[in-house]
Parts: sequence; C-alpha cells; structure tokens
Amino acid sequence: MPTFDQIAAVFSHEVVHWQQSHGRNSLPWQNTREPYRVWLSEIMLQQTQVSTVVGYYSRFLDRFPAVADLAAASQDDVMALWGGLGYYSRARNLHLCAQQVMALHDGQFPPTAAQLQTLPGIGRSTAAAIASFCFGERAAILDGNVKRVLTRVLGFSGDLAQSSQEKTLWRLAEDLLPRENLPQTMPPYTQGLMDLGATICSGRQPVCLLCPVQAICRGRAEGRPDKYPIKTRKLKRSSQSVSLLWAQRPDGSVWLEKRPATGIWSGLYCLPVYENPETFEAVLSEKLEKPMQALPSFIHVLTHKDLHLSPWIANFQQGQDVPASLLSEARPAAWFAPSAWPALGLPAPVRRLLAQRAQGSAEDAGPA
Ligand code: ADE
Repeated sequence: MPTFDQIAAVFSHEVVHWQQSHGRNSLPWQNTREPYRVWLSEIMLQQTQVSTVVGYYSRFLDRFPAVADLAAASQDDVMALWGGLGYYSRARNLHLCAQQVMALHDGQFPPTAAQLQTLPGIGRSTAAAIASFCFGERAAILDGNVKRVLTRVLGFSGDLAQSSQEKTLWRLAEDLLPRENLPQTMPPYTQGLMDLGATICSGRQPVCLLCPVQAICRGRAEGRPDKYPIKTRKLKRSSQSVSLLWAQRPDGSVWLEKRPATGIWSGLYCLPVYENPETFEAVLSEKLEKPMQALPSFIHVLTHKDLHLSPWIANFQQGQDVPASLLSEARPAAWFAPSAWPALGLPAPVRRLLAQRAQGSAEDAGPA
C-alpha cells in the first residue's frame, strides 16, 4: 500500500499532466483569468451541471459584461436571468457580491482566497478555485466531487459527517497541492481534480483503468474505491404537497406574487403557493363566475424534498382583482400578461406549466 509521502510525491504532477492532455479544456469559462468570468462560472457550477450552465453563463455575460453592470442591475433582472438554474440564494448572493466588489474593492475582485471568502456566496472551496484559476494561488478546493477523488486515492476512512474529519481532509488536500511553478500548475491541477471527479472517478463505477493516479490509489489497491467517501449522516428526504392558485383574466394575464426572501423559490415571481386549496377556495368561490378547475398534480424534485404541486385555475373578469384577504404586504403581486413572463424570474416548473397552457389554449383556438 503506498504511503502518504509516496502519493504526495507524484499526485499533483500526474493530475496536472492528465488535465492538460485529457481534461476539459474548452469550456466557455476556461482560458481566461478574468476574475469576474471565473467567479460567475464557479457560482453557477456550484450545484449545477456543466451542460446546463453553458447557456446561462453566456446570457449573463451578454447582459452583464462586467461586474459593474451586474452590480447596477435590479434584483428582479438578475433573478429573471437566473430563473430555472435553481438554488436561488446563489443569485441573490451573486448580486450582493457584485455590489460589494464595487463598493469595497474598487470594482476589482480581491486577489487572495482569504479575501475572496469574505464576499457573499463565496465559500472556502469556491474562493480557492477562483484564486487558483486567476492568480495561481496555492489553495485547495474540496467540493463533493473532489472529496470523492481524494478520499479514494488516500483511502481516507474518516467519517465526513464529523467536522474534525472534514478538517483533516482539508489539511491533506493542502498537503497534496503542487509546490512548484504555481501560476502554471495551479489552474490545471484545480481543474484536473474537478475533471477527474466529474468523469473517471464517478460515484458508483469509477473507471480506474483510465485514471492517471491508479498506480498510487489506495481505494483501488483495496479493491473497493466505491466505498469512499464515508459519510454516516444521510440526508432525510421529505415530501410536501402544496396548491398553486392560478388566477387568470380573459386576456391571459396571470396573478403572480414575489416569493419572500427566504424559503423555496425566494425572490422569484410565482403563482401564489398555499398549503391547501381550501384557503383560497373559501374566499374565491362566490366571487367567480365559473367554479375553480383543478389541473393534474405534478412532482417537482428539490434537494431535500419532493414537492407535489396542484394547480387550481380561477377565472377572474377583466378588471376584477384578487380579494385583499389573499394578499400580503410581504409578497408584492400583480397581473402579468404572457408577454411579460419571459422577462420575469419564475421557478422552472411554474414557467413550464404556464407555457404548456398558453400553447394548449392557442391549439384549442385552432388556426386563426
Ligand atoms: N465545477 C465547478 N467548477 C468547475 C469548473 N471550473 N469546470 C467544470 N466543472 C466545475
């Protein structure tokens, strides 16, 4: 079994070399050291796959070419462009971070991981990724994919549910970093760890035969690389059922509320969400000419829970308003015509629901 020193002697060199010849080298945010672009990509990539991020990344840069443009935008504009990417606190922190870079750092991202970490939305691993890509800093990343690579190579059997074990792994990650020629080695090393974790060293069935560090991997030597990482505390999934009030007027406009700053879909516009339909049925039934119509429920999967969504269509008349008892000052709301929906930040399932219906009614109406 290789010792830690034997692993450390070759690990970074092998990763750098492999990244340059076999890693991902033409993603849109690579081949730049501009902190704004690297930061934007790292925030988008935090919980989202590369293939999804590509389109969002280029739309963001078209709209906000520099950090000053993003800082000056309204929160609604930022949320609208983020709509569909999920984890909306990222978008609010992104906007806040841009404003702090302008206000506290003269419009320049600070050049060290320690300083970057003081900004909203930038944690230890993201700060290290930005500092290593842009400034060649010798700083360790440790996201989920990288934990998998390192625990396997090191045969690290500590339980990562314990913060002391996680701390130990951070220290080992630092010990494995390149030591020479940092401006040239740190960017491919950091990218190489990400690439290995995303491709070869995958969760269930790592493709060890293609791995550049197979000869020094303790997990492989033990015959069970897949047993790492070890984490005892498993996320408990829950499920929740909610009703969506789809109030619409004959011109197709729909009543949309801005979600509160915390909780699901925070900061986005959305059909009003209720724990059960009786809340609005009791208030609306005598105000509406037609009874409300229940649409089929559908499931939206979030990280920690399955959300069962049941939309209810309530037909209002032109000029008729939603009763005051259904309004809340904490949730500003208004009627929005279909032409306004694309520019709003809407949760992806709600956007799809509205779009299907708009298409359905155009088809119902037949050719003009
Ligand atoms: N995930 C997080 N950062 C990434 C990057 N720079 N490239 C690809 N995937 C990533």
